[in-house]
Amino acid sequence: MAAKLSILALFLGIVNLSYLAAKAGGDSTTTPSLGASFIFGDSLVDAGNNNYLPTLSKANMKPNGIDFQASGGNPTGRYTNGRTIGDIVGEELGIPNYAIPFLSPNATGKAILSGVNYASGGGGIMNATGRIFINRIGMDIQVDYFNITRKQIDQLLGPSKAKDYLQKKSIFSITIGANDFLNNYLMPVLSVGARITQSPDGFIDDMISHLKDQLTRLYKLDARKFVLGNVGPIGCIPYQKTINQLKENECVDLANKLALQYNGRLKDLVAQLNDNLPGATFVLANVYDMVMELITNYDKYGFSTASTACCGNGGQFAGIIPCGPTSSMCQDRSKHVFWDPYHPSEAANLILAKQLIDGDAKYISPVNLRHLRDI
Ligand SMILES: *[C@@H]1O[C@H](CO)[C@@H](O)[C@H](O)[C@H]1NC(C)=O
Ligand SMILES: *[C@@H]1O[C@H](CO)[C@@H](O)[C@H](O)[C@H]1NC(C)=O
Ligand SMILES: *[C@@H]1O[C@H](CO)[C@@H](O)[C@H](O)[C@H]1NC(C)=O
Repeated sequence: MAAKLSILALFLGIVNLSYLAAKAGGDSTTTPSLGASFIFGDSLVDAGNNNYLPTLSKANMKPNGIDFQASGGNPTGRYTNGRTIGDIVGEELGIPNYAIPFLSPNATGKAILSGVNYASGGGGIMNATGRIFINRIGMDIQVDYFNITRKQIDQLLGPSKAKDYLQKKSIFSITIGANDFLNNYLMPVLSVGARITQSPDGFIDDMISHLKDQLTRLYKLDARKFVLGNVGPIGCIPYQKTINQLKENECVDLANKLALQYNGRLKDLVAQLNDNLPGATFVLANVYDMVMELITNYDKYGFSTASTACCGNGGQFAGIIPCGPTSSMCQDRSKHVFWDPYHPSEAANLILAKQLIDGDAKYISPVNLRHLRDI
């Protein structure tokens, strides 16, 4: 017995030593840490920009943020109960702080060196997208804002270090496109005719060519490590299922078809940019397939529903009225894929983020985010 114990102790000692050695080596040489995360996109990743806009798209009201530890469960402007995918990815890749919303008064000085978040609920690739909300920051303006940050980083680090920091130590993620369909092309009246005057092909052509210009502008401003999310299965969100009075396991066909059509073109764009912009790596995140897998096999991942919003009101799936103080809220927030009529819960975001960081080519290609960080 005594002998057994000492062998065990010896074994543990060796494990400990090699663990420490690996850690020491890792810290200094083998794990290059990432400095900053610059986040562009829509409400899926907005961390509070819309709090500073006169807009109908807002999430800085309870119970949004109820599971967000950094704010003690208070709303921050995030459209979910906890962390967004952008928050989780930043944490996992070793970025010291959450990317700070560009419009926050705190987005000054050294704080911006951990990254800045330009995302805005209701925003899209096209300027006209999200007009129904009165105000939102579209992608063109988000890139203009980064141009401002770019100059501030020059001042903080000096031009040469700044360039190096942005090219090697920073990740640029772009999660956008869903609103161009939901709050533009697919809107019956307010889109002022995009759908009446344009075929789906024509509209998607326009989206892709604008996105290409926006990404090229970021490249000119020294962005090199890009992550592009494709559009999720927008026909399966509680809002669409409710207004179209679908059954539990049905999704709106047209919305999903448009998303898939756009996603096919986005894949080509990513390949083209990887060929044509020297030194840049564009990674495509297959959000559509990841979310579809969660929705289809929700029970396998520990969820009890992928159709009913945890926080919302109206219709069969609580999918009409956005989450707010008067909404009903589910019992167990970790059992719902959807937090509100549009957005995934933190529990879903955690699963999605894990796939982006360590997943394989089915969901993230040509490399995953851990690899992208270390390039
Ligand atoms: C700004 O920073 C201060 C001090 O850290 C903090 O108390 C405050 O909540 C922050 N404000 C915003 C809008 O993030
Ligand atoms: C959007 O608006 C900005 C500023 O008003 C303008 O510079 C840009 O060309 C517009 N983009 C599109 C896609 O219409
Ligand atoms: C950034 O801003 C400067 C003006 O300050 C302008 O000349 C330049 O074209 C902008 N760059 C991009 C890529 O928008």
